[in-house]
Amino acid sequence: MKTVPQIVVLDAGGQYCHLIARKVRDLGVYSEVRASETPAADLAGAKGLIISGGPNSVYDPSSPTVDPTIFQGGARVLGICYGQQLMAHLLGGTVQLGAKGEYGLATLDLPANGASTSLLFDGISGPQQIWMSHRDLVSAVPAGFSVLGSTATCAIAAIEAPSRGLYGVQFHPEVVHTSRGREILSNFLFGICDCRRDWDPRHRVPQIEDEIRQCVGDRNVFFFVSGGVDSTVACALCQRALGAERVQGVYVDTGLMREGETDSVRRMAGVSVESAEDRFLGALTGVRDPERKRHIIGEEFVYVQERIVESRHLLDGHWILGQGTIYPDTIESGGTEKAAVIKTHHNRVPGIQRLIDAGRIVEPLRAYYKDEVREIGRELGLPAEILDRHPFPGPGLAIRCLCSEIEAGVQATAEGYILPLHSVGVQGDSRSYAPVLCIDALDHALATELINRISGVNRVIARVRTAAPLADMRVRVSALTPERLARLRHADAIVCRLSHASGFDRQVWQFPVVLIPLGAGVAPDSVVLRPIDSVDGMTAQSVTMPHDLLNSVSAALLSVPGISGVFYDLTHKPPATIEWE
Ligand code: XMP
Repeated sequence: MKTVPQIVVLDAGGQYCHLIARKVRDLGVYSEVRASETPAADLAGAKGLIISGGPNSVYDPSSPTVDPTIFQGGARVLGICYGQQLMAHLLGGTVQLGAKGEYGLATLDLPANGASTSLLFDGISGPQQIWMSHRDLVSAVPAGFSVLGSTATCAIAAIEAPSRGLYGVQFHPEVVHTSRGREILSNFLFGICDCRRDWDPRHRVPQIEDEIRQCVGDRNVFFFVSGGVDSTVACALCQRALGAERVQGVYVDTGLMREGETDSVRRMAGVSVESAEDRFLGALTGVRDPERKRHIIGEEFVYVQERIVESRHLLDGHWILGQGTIYPDTIESGGTEKAAVIKTHHNRVPGIQRLIDAGRIVEPLRAYYKDEVREIGRELGLPAEILDRHPFPGPGLAIRCLCSEIEAGVQATAEGYILPLHSVGVQGDSRSYAPVLCIDALDHALATELINRISGVNRVIARVRTAAPLADMRVRVSALTPERLARLRHADAIVCRLSHASGFDRQVWQFPVVLIPLGAGVAPDSVVLRPIDSVDGMTAQSVTMPHDLLNSVSAALLSVPGISGVFYDLTHKPPATIEWE
């Protein structure tokens, strides 16, 4: 039987489940994720158990649960979000179904200086910035529990029964937006569970290399590189683990890349370029649905990959496919046991899955987050201009070019205008696909307030500059055409150039530029700017752009033929995802 680590995270299906394990490891304590229903007997030896958040309500019959005997001594237990609700529910408290939920920043009121005696909040007092993403909440604690803190809309935001070693928080201490989250986890590990430090992040590279050698055996690795950080680091790890002569790189030009990208990959050592632009664009003709776009692109990738593999005689069993998949790619595709599908990432479509099932794939970075991948890259000595590159999604510009099957005008409301366009969101660990609200002010606080108040909207944008009044603009029937992709590529290059010149690109984690079919007169499209800050792509905050830069960017964009408006996405993740599709 596997040895049980000091801290086990019980996976109740939350988007941040693996992030919890990773934050625990960052604090120097080895931690693993196990299924939530793991019997208590198989967890014997753990000092602490953390029950993750999850997309379900404790009242759904299919909801994840835990072995209730974990609450009867042995390890200390911390329930996070759904984990707190589940603990309260199983121990006789009450969970109330939330009507609207609470997503984003909130303030946790803790007793002022020194008044809290809870070990969980040792050294932390007064109002605290926290991150919430939930619908249901605990409305009555089980007997013997006390309430440690509350927010304006959640009276029971943290609970404990210290004599039984049980703790719960409704918010997410594992995400960076909870400002003292690291200390709260540290208090749980060292103050409550009495863990010893047994993990050093520098063990990662040799461990990954061992895993690569074990997985690959005596075969060689064939890599499809994208020019991005992940596939470059994954490829470099394979080269180190196996020797450069056993690793081959190919770059597929899908025609969905940004300006200049293919040329820069052409200059990379050991990588050949395969042109497949016509295939990809042909297969995407007339396709508007985001998930269908992803599936088609994924299947085309597999087709092109298989053709390359065949034409190079790599099917003789001596080769295995390498991929730069990182943790968020698998979790948001429902790749962990219970996480809901938010977006199907292109490397998890059925064709790729068949290769995985056949054991013909190696994904050295699948347990790691972007910031860790960059650190690993630095340890390997890769150049900063590759490592600091913003992440770019595999399906490329296709998922930043919105299409519409209908023609419709905007709809005026008391708060602004509802656009007849849908975008993807993630609310309380589930996917949403909802219309966009457009307001006139570049006001993030107002945007958050409106999203929490208005049901059926998951994204708020501000009008920056338009060639016509918004009320006169219309969404037109539009598809993924070479003309629109060229327009988006042009707009994206303008934004990249100006934000690089001003240094703004270094202040943001990613800066998607999105083309939407909202236009006026002869210019059928508009551009949405989406600069965000993030650590790992799992949560994100919309960032404010310097005024002068916004002015110059929007003036330059409005001079592009076919573009009649510039908008600014004010929405954090959650409730909106970073990409629109
Ligand atoms: P979302 O939009 O899901 O994005 O909040 C989180 C991060 O993932 C990237 N992303 C993708 N990457 N294939 C990818 O390789 C995809 O289909 C895909 N969709 C989103 C996104 O750019 C962001 O960094």
